[in-house]
Amino acid sequence: MNSTYSATSAAPAAPAAPATVESDLQIAGDILAVQHLLQPAREHPATVAEFVGLARSVAEDRASWEHLVRYDATTRWYHRLRTGPGYEVWLLSWVPGQGSGPHDHGASSGVMTVLEGELTEHTARGRLTHRPGTQRVLAPGRAHEVVNDTLDGAVSLHVYFPGLTEMPMHSCSPAESASVPA
Ligand SMILES: [Fe+2]
Repeated sequence: MNSTYSATSAAPAAPAAPATVESDLQIAGDILAVQHLLQPAREHPATVAEFVGLARSVAEDRASWEHLVRYDATTRWYHRLRTGPGYEVWLLSWVPGQGSGPHDHGASSGVMTVLEGELTEHTARGRLTHRPGTQRVLAPGRAHEVVNDTLDGAVSLHVYFPGLTEMPMHSCSPAESASVPA
């Protein structure tokens, strides 16, 4: 009996491509769609996909936030719109020229959605422009800086999970610091 075993050396698995925030968001959307088919919606979100869904539903419910928009030239205006177990939702109003300064969100993840106007985000990977209809998922510890570079007001919605307990400020823009993760 021929018991020859032809061993072929398996090619080493290609290293997984680093997950990007954008691809995370796409996956999150796919997961959300599947979850809608498989189970009834939970009262409170608990997964990234569900937090993205929460942000989307609040954004579409204009009556829940429109009257709370307030442009204040002396400081970025923010209002805590909603809290739940393990998360909070903030509404921010930005006059032209206002910005967050370089920072991260500590151990919190975030979903940022522009409701009105346009915001520019600077990260170590480059510059992103956000307008209504897009959502940005931020991983814990990711540094960024958000600025209203336009001549009009802007409004944004921010979901943090767990709720924001710290927002460390950075001394330089993420785009200028090679040591700061995107
Ligand atoms: Fe932020």
